[in-house]
Amino acid sequence: MASITIRNLDEQTKQLLREQAARHGRSMEEEVRHMLRDATTPPSVSADDPPPQPAEAGGSLSGKRILLVITGGIAAYKSLDLIRRLRERGAAVRPVMTEAAKQFVSPLAVGALAADKVFEDLFSREDEQDVGHIRLARSCELVLVAPATADFIGKMALGIANDLASTIVLATNSKVLIAPAMNPAMWNHLAVQRNVETVKRDRVEVVGPMRGEMAESGEAGLGRMAEPLDIVAVVEALLDDGPKPLAGKTAIVTSGPTHEPIDPVRYIANRSSGKQGHAIAAALARLGADVTLVSGPVTIADPQGTKTIHVESARDMLNAVEGQLPADIAVMVAAVADWRAAGQSGEKIKKKPGEAPPPLMLTENPDILKTVGHHAKRPTLVVGFAAETQNLEDNARAKLQRKGADWIVANDVSPDTGIMGGDHNRVRIVTHSGIEDWPKMDKQSVAERLAREIVKSLTGSSKTG
Ligand code: C5P
Repeated sequence: MASITIRNLDEQTKQLLREQAARHGRSMEEEVRHMLRDATTPPSVSADDPPPQPAEAGGSLSGKRILLVITGGIAAYKSLDLIRRLRERGAAVRPVMTEAAKQFVSPLAVGALAADKVFEDLFSREDEQDVGHIRLARSCELVLVAPATADFIGKMALGIANDLASTIVLATNSKVLIAPAMNPAMWNHLAVQRNVETVKRDRVEVVGPMRGEMAESGEAGLGRMAEPLDIVAVVEALLDDGPKPLAGKTAIVTSGPTHEPIDPVRYIANRSSGKQGHAIAAALARLGADVTLVSGPVTIADPQGTKTIHVESARDMLNAVEGQLPADIAVMVAAVADWRAAGQSGEKIKKKPGEAPPPLMLTENPDILKTVGHHAKRPTLVVGFAAETQNLEDNARAKLQRKGADWIVANDVSPDTGIMGGDHNRVRIVTHSGIEDWPKMDKQSVAERLAREIVKSLTGSSKTG
């Protein structure tokens, strides 16, 4: 290894070094060693430093500071995407990781995506100067715990503070949101349910968990962490301080597919995810509307700020919708099954060796949109959707008339568009006065723009912030 000899430095540098060493009471060699150590140590960030600038300004979370606590579950990998989604919307994300979280994702990756130092140690001398964890807990608008393990929720319920993450959650004055993630057996355990109820009573908001496949092979059920975009939607709702032009208005939104039973275990369904309908319900609620979402079976979280009624079949959905009338706004987004099995078998239909498959006789389901569009208590604004794979505009125009709607939001759901079940949508708004073609956007943006159009139509104003 090469060595540096002070004797070989030029005179002026030598003199400056001599003066600096004298000021610190060190020998010249010691001073050089200190300088080299300082120069090679990564810069430390203290809790007092402002969080870094978000990737984008002007988004829905612009200017918001989110302290993201990552605890040790397999879902921690999704937190990387969550950081990206939050920053895309303008939030500054300051990450805190538990010891266990570091077994699942590396602090390097978390820090790089957040563009901030990862805080992890309650007893770090650097971070703790001047009660760093208290400042950390307070210098944010929201503490978001994602994923929140059974262990961490248990600590929150009991008020245990034995590491940086749990101490922050106790010390904060800001809103707290948790996204639980665990094995379904753990989630269903009475102790966990009791703890979740306790933290909810302590005014902690909860998003998810969702139903789905687990990391453990062959296991499925309720326990998957909510998807990053669903978490973001809840964060947006919690931190929203925008104008409420729909305050005082009521809205009914349908979303998701319907399940039409054939027998106790089989049903007819479709590929609708509910993402677009749920996003519209949330967008209307953010603008102040009193929203009831009537949702078919979906795996995504109930949107924040809405009352959600869960139904299975088209007939249940119609009953729930009619039960909410009168209302000012109806947005019927659900992909309602057009037909159901003519006679539902009370027992599981058995396969009989040597016999032909049983015929599946269908009968028509009620048309919810048409019923609402022609109802004695018809809402002021009735919006329908038209998922088509051909003759998009002609079909949408015909639907506008037939169903008594004011607008039809038409989208092409041919398999190659990836719209059904995907995160993006490309829609055309068909009204009695013409057609407006919107560019491809994510479903949240479609929802926000549609909600703004609804404000314009009902209030004649476009001031939604
Ligand atoms: O006729 P089609 O299913 O294409 O119409 C789509 C629109 O009608 C959507 O807004 C959907 O929510 C609504 N619809 C309904 N009840 C049905 C079928 C469709 O509300 N049975």
